[in-house]
Amino acid sequence: MSILSGHKKIETNAFLLLVLSFFVVTVGGIVQIVPLFYLDNVIEEVEGMRPYSPLELAGRQIYIREGCYVCHSQMIRPMRDEHERYGHYSLAAESMYDHPFQWGSKRTGPDLARVGGRYSDDWHIQHFRAPKELVPESIMPAYPWFETTPLNYDLIEQLLIAHRRAGVPYTDEMIRSARDDLILQWNPDSGDVDAFLERYPNAQVRNFTESTEVTELDAMLAYLQMLGTLVDFSTYEPDPTR
Ligand code: HEC
Repeated sequence: MSILSGHKKIETNAFLLLVLSFFVVTVGGIVQIVPLFYLDNVIEEVEGMRPYSPLELAGRQIYIREGCYVCHSQMIRPMRDEHERYGHYSLAAESMYDHPFQWGSKRTGPDLARVGGRYSDDWHIQHFRAPKELVPESIMPAYPWFETTPLNYDLIEQLLIAHRRAGVPYTDEMIRSARDDLILQWNPDSGDVDAFLERYPNAQVRNFTESTEVTELDAMLAYLQMLGTLVDFSTYEPDPTR
C-alpha cells in the first residue's frame, strides 16, 4: 500500500480525519504552549525599565480616557522604514508595566512609542491647543481643556495599588508617597528630589506647563516626554540566548 492510498483512506473517512487532525493540532499546541509554563519569565529583562511615576501614570490614564490609542500606536516594528522613522524597535520589556498595553492597532497619527524628548513642552502645549496651527494638514482633534483642567489625583494611591495587583512592583513606600511624589515631580521645591529619583530613575522633574496647580496637561506631558526614553539604546545589547 503506497502512502497515497493510505492518505486516501484518511481523506474519505471524516471521522478518522477529525481524530487525526485533532491529534496533530494537540501535539502542535503542546509544543508551543507547554515550554511557556517552565520559563520564569518570557520577557527579557532590560536595564532602565521601571514602573511609571504617579504623575506619568495619571497622564497615561488620560491617554486611555481620551482614546489616543485609537489613532496612535505605541509599538515600533523591527522593519527598516519603521526604525528609520521612529527609532529602535520596541522591546517586550518596554510595555511590561503597561496594564492595559497601549500598542494600538491603527496609525491615523504617528507611532508614539519614542515620542519622549522629540518635541519641547511648548510644542506639545501648542499642539494640544490647536494641532492645525503646527501641522496644517493635521486631523488630530484639539484638547484645549487639558491645560485648564486641574488634575484629579484623589485616587492616585489606589491606582498604584491596582497596578501592583496586576503585577507592577510598586513598593509600600511608593504607594505611601504617591501623592507627594506626584506633586514633587511637578514642583521640585516641594520635597526630596533625590529620593524621588531613586524611586523613579530618569523621571523628568519640572513644571511642564508653568501652571499654578497640577493640570491634566502636566500629567500628559510627564507621560509623553518619558515614552521610549528609559532604555539607553546606545548601550543596549539584545540577549543572544533568546
Ligand atoms: C483622530 C485621530 C487622532 C486622535 C484621536 C489623536 N491624535 Fe495625535 N495625531 C494624529 C495625527 C493625524 C497626527 C499627525 C499630525 C499632527 O502632528 O498633528 C498626530 C500627532 C500627534 C503627536 C505628534 C507626534 C509626532 O511624532 O509628530 C502627538 C504627541 C500626539 N498626536 C498625541 C496625541 C494624544 C496624547 C492624543 C490623545 C489625547 C491624540 N494624539 C489623539 C491623530 C490623532
